[in-house]
Amino acid sequence: MTGRLDAVPKVTGRAKYAADNNFPGMVYGYVVLSTIACGEIAAMDVAAAKSAPGVVAVYTPFEGLGLSVASSPMMGETWVPLRNTDVAYRGQPIGVVVAETFEQARDAAALVQVSYDQKPARTSFEAGIATAEDAPAFMGNELSATVLAPGVESIEDALAASPVVVEATYRTATQNHAPMEPHSAVAVWADGTLTIYSGNQGSDLQAMEVAGALNLPISAVHAVNPYVGGAFGGKGRTSVPAFLAAAAARALNRPVKCALTREQVFTATAGRAATLQKIALGADKNGTLLAVRHDSWSSTAMDRSFVEPTSHGTSREWYATENLSISQKMVPLNVPLTTFMRAPGEAPGSFALESAMDELAVALKMDPIQLRRRNSSTAPPGKDLQWSSKHLEECFDIGARRFGWANRSPRGRVDGDWLVGIGTATAMFPALRFPATVEITLNADETAEVRTSGADPGTGLLTVLSTIGAESLDIAPERITPRLGDSRYPSGGMSGGSTATASAGTAIMVAATEVIDDLLALASAPGGPYEGQEVTYADGRVYGTDDTVPFGELLRAVGRESLSAKGSSAPGEEMTKHSFSSFGAQFCEVRVHRLTGEARVSRLLGVFDAGRIINEKLASSQLSGGLIWGVSAALHEGLEIESDGRLANADFASYLLPVNADIPAIDVEFVQYPDTLHNAVGARGIGEIGVVGVAAAIANAIYNATGIRVRHIPITIEDLL
Ligand code: MOS
Repeated sequence: MTGRLDAVPKVTGRAKYAADNNFPGMVYGYVVLSTIACGEIAAMDVAAAKSAPGVVAVYTPFEGLGLSVASSPMMGETWVPLRNTDVAYRGQPIGVVVAETFEQARDAAALVQVSYDQKPARTSFEAGIATAEDAPAFMGNELSATVLAPGVESIEDALAASPVVVEATYRTATQNHAPMEPHSAVAVWADGTLTIYSGNQGSDLQAMEVAGALNLPISAVHAVNPYVGGAFGGKGRTSVPAFLAAAAARALNRPVKCALTREQVFTATAGRAATLQKIALGADKNGTLLAVRHDSWSSTAMDRSFVEPTSHGTSREWYATENLSISQKMVPLNVPLTTFMRAPGEAPGSFALESAMDELAVALKMDPIQLRRRNSSTAPPGKDLQWSSKHLEECFDIGARRFGWANRSPRGRVDGDWLVGIGTATAMFPALRFPATVEITLNADETAEVRTSGADPGTGLLTVLSTIGAESLDIAPERITPRLGDSRYPSGGMSGGSTATASAGTAIMVAATEVIDDLLALASAPGGPYEGQEVTYADGRVYGTDDTVPFGELLRAVGRESLSAKGSSAPGEEMTKHSFSSFGAQFCEVRVHRLTGEARVSRLLGVFDAGRIINEKLASSQLSGGLIWGVSAALHEGLEIESDGRLANADFASYLLPVNADIPAIDVEFVQYPDTLHNAVGARGIGEIGVVGVAAAIANAIYNATGIRVRHIPITIEDLL
């Protein structure tokens, strides 16, 4: 199977990430952060910083860079620094020092004196619950909804009429994407054009946002981004260093490099909200769900720009039920910005819902898989549009067999000093597409190029372009050069929302058809080698009545060096015919030490139904990454916010992440039913579903092992003593 095309450049250090770009005369920006959580900057004394060795400039809201609003149709408005003197969280970017070296910029940044008019900060999520606000719609979908069976007056009535009810409150922690590559940028001005090198999830979107912030026509901004060191939603929007580097490069007419330190990444970028979720499930004695209520609260920054849509998945994907009620409130706090993080909504939402399903199984004395089977949906709850393709039960069958589920005891088992339990959860993530355009070029040397602006944040999209390009042109993948991460290529949408393969892949198929049609037209045109003949295309060759030539030879025969065509795709009529989601069954085994409370995940298995899998090796890696993030969310990760708004653990020493010793061998399996009702490639998304349900499966396994039900993540030793 094809390996990852960017593997060798990445592991040999030849891949050029944003901050690896260097230019003659380049200067370095160091971002200055606020040291209060709420208030206004009264003054900034930059005299000492300006006279420090090597300093070229200091920019603040008072001596600013003239930055404007940035937005894109896909992501809406993005926060741009230095536009005013408001401080809404501790660690907010409030200035940038530019110097000849990074060290000089950093030293001078420490000399900037800031005085504030401080206001009381709201930092407690729990305290903010009482005055929570209604959440706005999420990407056009209302986050509060009620569906009731005929004759049922309210969800409370439906719950009251249910013979078995479980009701509980779950909490999930604030998280940060913490990608390996900190947010960074190098900006260069030449001949009225700005070239910006900065990790992102869609280079044309970044060009649009930077152009907006700098009041430039989009054509004057060139965003370049061939390699991205992890994004996970955290590079969907343009980062603070990119705006600052771009504007400073214009002001100084010198190339500027600006990178966040690891600690700065935790506050100067956006992360995942904290959530509190109240769930009530009502069922009959056989486990059929009669009522589902899921009320959510999530933290958001004071700009209220992003609400983690936790209960949304319950209404749009999960279980069949006649009575359903979801609601979503937000708690604005003086904390860093929140944004999309892998499986936004579904990741924390599934912890609550899938823990509650396990609690219901216990209450019913029912097998947890059997309970899930009984309530499997054929369409999103309350909707008529059936799933295009759903093989979740097969995922559970395969998983149960591979995992030895039949030997599971409701009370776990004991192995020496270790209490051993197994748990499961359903995973779901909607299958989406974004508009995408791809250009294909056939070259006279028998090679071809596939180009789109998008990004490969480590997902394998570059390799997927090559594979689908090769299939569509019916030639070997070695003859294809895939290109990504350049805003001058046709707009490829974004590597986000688990959409890239379905979006770009479909556009490749359209572009290939176009370029082949054009090639055949050249072949049979007057003066062409097959003038007037019926011509066909296969194996990279044009076939006439009597003979055949490879496409390159044909191009040479008509005096062409190359032939290009574009193809586009976008969600369309299929949206009116079916509902689309990827599905999966998560299994895990956890060992809890009976004396120390230490919990170790000892086995992990995910079985996924995501349509056609383009490359099993890459898909497996992607999903393993998701499973590992699930372990991390369940047992390690969480930002501690102090009352003064400081993040107590904003570094890799204290923001806990799993290391190799924390992760067992991971088993990932697929059932493959190409979903051509969704798109011509037949692939649904796999980017986000890997993490969904994992934290619940772990909490459920811990309950199975110990009898202790922990309703928050991360689960710590203290919870299990
Ligand atoms: Mo993803 S959270 O849509 O990058």
